[in-house]
Amino acid sequence: MGNVEITSMKAADINHVLSHIYDTVIQNREGALADYIPELAKVDPNIFGMALATNNGKVYSIGDLETTFTIQSISKALNYCIALELMGSDVVFERVGVEPSGDRFNAIEFDPRTLRPYNPMVNAGAITIAGLLYDRLGSEAYEYILDRFSQAAGRQLELHEGVYRSELLTGHRNRAIGHLLLSAQAIEEPVDAALDLYFRQCSISVNAMDLAVIGATFANLGQNPITGRQVFDMTAVRNTLSVMFTCGMYDYSGNWAYDVGLPAKSGVGGGILGIVNRQLGIGTFSPRLDTNGNSVRGLASFKILSDEFGLHAFDPTNRGSGLVSHFFDH
Ligand code: DON
Repeated sequence: MGNVEITSMKAADINHVLSHIYDTVIQNREGALADYIPELAKVDPNIFGMALATNNGKVYSIGDLETTFTIQSISKALNYCIALELMGSDVVFERVGVEPSGDRFNAIEFDPRTLRPYNPMVNAGAITIAGLLYDRLGSEAYEYILDRFSQAAGRQLELHEGVYRSELLTGHRNRAIGHLLLSAQAIEEPVDAALDLYFRQCSISVNAMDLAVIGATFANLGQNPITGRQVFDMTAVRNTLSVMFTCGMYDYSGNWAYDVGLPAKSGVGGGILGIVNRQLGIGTFSPRLDTNGNSVRGLASFKILSDEFGLHAFDPTNRGSGLVSHFFDH
């Protein structure tokens, strides 16, 4: 398929590209389900769904939008945004850096120059952010973040009890990270409450359309374009998208920025959330993961979409920058 001629784009063209993506990626059976949390392996490995939501409130989709999956590490981006808003970037930056680590998401390590977690997208950083949120919000913290995630998705989201229990039973490494953070005075007691918030935030159920609408909320300066509600603070959104761009795709983040060129975050549940600033939220779900922990089909879909529409942030033609505002459904 050649690049889409943006100047004449209609809904039919968008649906055509989505069909092309579906036909291409559905053949791909590479990768494996995450099974280090047993409950995560209980999904149909063949599912694929993709959704786009524009910053003027239109949605397009293909494949499975019914099946829900747990948001997992994609929650790290939302919680970081909420923490920046509640505590201000200086306070948050004192605790968690913004440098890519280049190591596994669950590495037991700190940045040796600062003695704090490298960034909020690795577990050490996300658990520190959960600790900050717990300090601020106390026992209301989970209900509070669930409400904010729901506002961003435009519908009431729920906890997947089975995955949450499975996280609790198997989360020894995260507990080790939490206690290491405590011993380094990087977080305060009660560390178990911070960990519980972390396990819960990872266990919130979403579908591919929820991710697209959450993405559109980020793309639309923090305002959900479908409900019209201002969900996130604009400055916090800017800072969150920056960290997603550099650290959102595990140890594939550099390759992703190079090939796809969009802020994004993936989770071991099989979801990827991507954002075209001021234009689009993109959500994909397909549970087979590559060795980095990214959805194989999700990654392939983003590459095709970005190429077809010129969405890479540094695309030389700049074709993608006027996509929604000028041509989607006009
Ligand atoms: O084991 C954990 O920490 C997971 N619940 C986090 C999930 C995830 O998607 C990995 N992230 N970067």
